Amino acid sequence: MKVFSEIPPLRQVRWAEPLKTWGLVPTMGFLHEAHMNLVRRSKNENDRTGVSIFVNPMQFNNADDLSNYPRKLEQDLAMLEKEGVDLVWTPTPDTVYPKGYQTDINVREITRGLEGASRPGHFQGVATVVAKLFNVFQPHRSYFGQKDAQQVAVIQQMVRDLNFNIEIIPCPTTRETDGLAMSSRNVNLTAAYRQQAICLFQALSAANSACQAGETDANRIKEIMTRIILTAPDARIDYVSAAHIETLQELTLIENRVLLSLAVFFGNVRLIDNMVVTVEG
Ligand code: PAJ
Repeated sequence: MKVFSEIPPLRQVRWAEPLKTWGLVPTMGFLHEAHMNLVRRSKNENDRTGVSIFVNPMQFNNADDLSNYPRKLEQDLAMLEKEGVDLVWTPTPDTVYPKGYQTDINVREITRGLEGASRPGHFQGVATVVAKLFNVFQPHRSYFGQKDAQQVAVIQQMVRDLNFNIEIIPCPTTRETDGLAMSSRNVNLTAAYRQQAICLFQALSAANSACQAGETDANRIKEIMTRIILTAPDARIDYVSAAHIETLQELTLIENRVLLSLAVFFGNVRLIDNMVVTVEG
């Protein structure tokens, strides 16, 4: 496994075998089983797999969130090596945004709600860094988790709009056995918060069951989620949403495929989760 923080040696390895297909898994490190599932999928579907590890300052709208973001590069590299990854990019912020840097990518409508509304500038940071990762690696395919459903939608939109010749592969959410979606941020939860955090998945599951049982009023579905989250004494709701699967606009009527999503604080740890509900029409 080759590991570089500079771009020229990385490009050299990438293009040493121009006929091989490449998969890319962009990450911010502190890797866990969910990241590994993306890596395994890429390894299955491509001749070579690259991974980036970069805690992208541009996508953090809160300085504390950036400084509290967990990091463990040595362990990350050991995990990737064991999985048989070919190439890892671990750039410094100066390599990604050198002095004089001035270009942003702004994907418009689809970034307005949900995470985009709660975290101004977040998706500009994500779209910009992912565009740069695509240009550095020039992969055939790139792998993203459905856990960040809006992120997948934003990247797909950007790829369409800017004609990146890259196939975006959305991958299912990996969960702990009690249902909590895996996240690098989970380590920042106290034991009490960790226990309460199962309410996110419980809320989504109950809302899904209600939709399957015929409830079509989106407000009532959101009330079900809210009620369950508030059974956790320390939960502070940022948003609860039932949105159109493609436009991500808030819905009043549950029909066809709907993205149920939520963001909840425990202390200063912010967790997100979502579920796509398919209602038989
Ligand atoms: P990060 O949070 O490290 O996540 C890297 C990838 O792993 C993302 O595609 C994310 O959706 C996926 N992932 C994380 N937890 C998951 C889970 N429980 N199940 C399935 N997939 C999961 O997302 C980012 O980094 C950054 O925004 C990035 C795309 C790297 C741009 O900086």
